[in-house]
Amino acid sequence: MSVSSDVNAETAEQFNTYMKRYPELYQSLASCVQEHLSSQTPVILDLGAGTGLLTLELQLRYPTATLLGLDPLRTMLRLAKDNTRETSSSAVHWLQGVSEALPLKSGMVEGVVTRFSLPYWNQPEKSFQEINRVLKPGGVVILQGLNKDYPRWKLALLRLLMRLRTAPKNVITYHLDAYKIAHTRAWVEDLFTSTGFRLLLSSGKPWDWQFLIIAQKTQG
Ligand SMILES: C[S@@+](CC[C@H](N)C(=O)[O-])C[C@H]1O[C@@H](n2cnc3c(N)ncnc32)[C@H](O)[C@@H]1O
Repeated sequence: MSVSSDVNAETAEQFNTYMKRYPELYQSLASCVQEHLSSQTPVILDLGAGTGLLTLELQLRYPTATLLGLDPLRTMLRLAKDNTRETSSSAVHWLQGVSEALPLKSGMVEGVVTRFSLPYWNQPEKSFQEINRVLKPGGVVILQGLNKDYPRWKLALLRLLMRLRTAPKNVITYHLDAYKIAHTRAWVEDLFTSTGFRLLLSSGKPWDWQFLIIAQKTQG
């Protein structure tokens, strides 16, 4: 299935504006990160950070953390820098790169959080190995994924809802196309366990639009 991970500047801008209407989506995931990382001064990587709206919530919760935001697209990173500039909290180090070859030293990160980026990764297995490499032993991954099993009739409803909420056409297409390349929760669980992680939590019903998996790098 060919769905490009590349988005033009207009779509990125519109995605940014649209998603800012739903801060609670980022706030709940940031709270989940906080629940699962014990350190108050962790190094956290937001992988596939997009326009940085999750990173912003992490900034507010972790005033003394080292936050790393990574995305392959310059256009996303530009918006992410704008979104996180004002916060007089921990600085974010923005990195251009891909999940398949993280530009980070081994064992330097306590937590990796990634929201709806996995469908776009060309080599998921290699990416998970990279995540494992950059994590410290005992480090945690919090992955929010789009559910491939989400029923088609619900997708049609979602399209309608987004139209009613006056989402731009590009943003609707960006959202819905992602389901064409999404994965099942079971598939992602297998990927975690085959790349050196222990599952701490896996939740999401087959008919939900998303799932959440929290996994820990096994010690040693
Ligand atoms: C749907 S957006 C989600 C952005 C952000 N996480 C959010 O929830 O607002 C998916 C992001 O994944 C990024 N992406 C695509 N391929 C990637 C890769 N191989 N490694 C890391 N990020 C990637 C895209 O550029 C895009 O910013």
